[in-house]
Amino acid sequence: MAFRGITKLFVTQTRFSQLSTLSYKRLTDNDVEILSKIVEGSIITNTDDLETYNTDWMRRCNAKSKLVLKPNSTQKVSQILSYCNQERIAVVPQGGNTGLVGGGVPMDSNEIILSLSKMNKVIEFEPSLGVLTCEAGCVLENLDRYLEKFGHCVPLDLGAKGSCQIGGNVSTNAGGLRLLRYGSLRGNVLGIEAVLADGTIIDCMSSLRKDNTGYDIKQLFIGSEGTLGVITKIALLAPIKPAYKNVAMFSCHTYEDLLQALSLAKSRLGEIVSALEFIDYEAMLVVNQHLDLKCPISLAPFFFFIETSGSNQEHDRQKLDEYLEEVYGKALVTDGTVAEDSSKAAYIWGLRERQVEAGVRVGWIYKYDLSLPLNCLYELVQETRKRCKGLASYTVSYGHLGDSNLHLNVYNTHYTQELKDTIEPFVFEWTASRGGSISAEHGMGFDKAKYIYFSKQKESVEIMRQLKRRFDPNGILNPNKTVLLDDSKCIRPPPIGKYNH
Ligand code: FAD
Ligand code: MLT
Ligand code: ZN
Repeated sequence: MAFRGITKLFVTQTRFSQLSTLSYKRLTDNDVEILSKIVEGSIITNTDDLETYNTDWMRRCNAKSKLVLKPNSTQKVSQILSYCNQERIAVVPQGGNTGLVGGGVPMDSNEIILSLSKMNKVIEFEPSLGVLTCEAGCVLENLDRYLEKFGHCVPLDLGAKGSCQIGGNVSTNAGGLRLLRYGSLRGNVLGIEAVLADGTIIDCMSSLRKDNTGYDIKQLFIGSEGTLGVITKIALLAPIKPAYKNVAMFSCHTYEDLLQALSLAKSRLGEIVSALEFIDYEAMLVVNQHLDLKCPISLAPFFFFIETSGSNQEHDRQKLDEYLEEVYGKALVTDGTVAEDSSKAAYIWGLRERQVEAGVRVGWIYKYDLSLPLNCLYELVQETRKRCKGLASYTVSYGHLGDSNLHLNVYNTHYTQELKDTIEPFVFEWTASRGGSISAEHGMGFDKAKYIYFSKQKESVEIMRQLKRRFDPNGILNPNKTVLLDDSKCIRPPPIGKYNH
């Protein structure tokens, strides 16, 4: 196992402590043979081929799992889990492996990876309902292309769309660029089929918009990061694809100007707005220096991105023009550009969507994904930048401004414990003291699990643990992710008020 620095230590400690209550089996050749038969030989055991599955997208985790299984049906997932549960073999469900919190890679070499990539069939699209039914391993972008033929689209969009799978999106309750327009996956997922740790298949595959028959079981699987069950099928609302889009980008000289431009975009563009995003100057610098993407407008401390989507080109453009007049008139923005064609729109979006790719090129990413009140959101970036001065190559921020979701990233050429200790737990303490969330959209995975008390009260954490024990009594599903069963491994936040000055 090669998680680095403190993470490595933590993994070792956690494993020993979990072993005192939950014990896992050492994977044998006999297990591999039995599991291989279930999936009719669709396995990976070769060290070189395993590398892709063992390494996360940001290349921070380098796990050592010896086995990847690729079932192509729910029945096979059920048989795998039933066997693993009986034998106490830990299983890590994996989609496109684009997760950013170390949730989709194993912690121990005896954990096996259950890849959903062969469960990639669209089952049906029902145009009158606008509901898509598909297997969990469908790649998000492929679903979007499929829906385009019917004049529909998926209700979420993210930079990882070419690799991430809908099952991974649902398991992380991914947000992305258009949450502002279509809302969270909790509202867009109408049905789920999932397999529990003991192999039981839970069929909640409804296409109904309304169903108030008591507890909504499918919600438990949304955002549970593979710790309660393996999602095998999904019924998803697929909205009508907007006929026209406008993409614009502006420079703002102060954070206050940016917030005012945001507020006006919400009120003036209202129903046609589909994304409101920002990046700061240092983020622009990183895509410029590491991806060679040039800024098409004059440089400024902040860059604001607006996308509108609608059905009437003239109407939408007129609204956007009126908005432009107002923000320029009030000097909230100093320069800007509206994409005249789709390639320019794609270029502009690249400056925002390729931020994490640029970060990976720098070397090591310390990544934070926070929900914060807008009025103090950028204060945290400034404080963190000050703390990291001289230790980090860059402190960058960008994010889904329209959702008050900040992505704060500190980049350095390599990992250093000193830099990690400079940022953590400071960032989490600061966020907790402002009533924010330490994970707005990426999930808890391995990285954030021990900080759960910074965003959840102890009674809620205890209910999470009870659910975990009920759904997965032997703890075989994604151990040490999301909610730690061993409370002593969790870090407690300091008394409220520490950073309220
Ligand atoms: P994986 O990374 O494979 O897995 C993620 C978690 O889900 C793991 O815990 C895994 O065990 C579990 N899991 C996966 N599939 C299943 C399944 N079928 N059943 C049960 N559990 C499963 N996230 C956002 O929210 N918004 C963004 O804007 C965004 N942009 C991104 C941009 C880039 C360039 C990258 C690399 C990542 C981005 N992400 C974003 C993070 C990531 O959460 C999403 O990419 C995506 O939701 C993960 O899907 P995946 O299929 O890659 O899942
Ligand atoms: C994004 O919004 O770009 C993603 O969530 C990925 C990231 O945080 O870098
Ligand atoms: Zn994001």
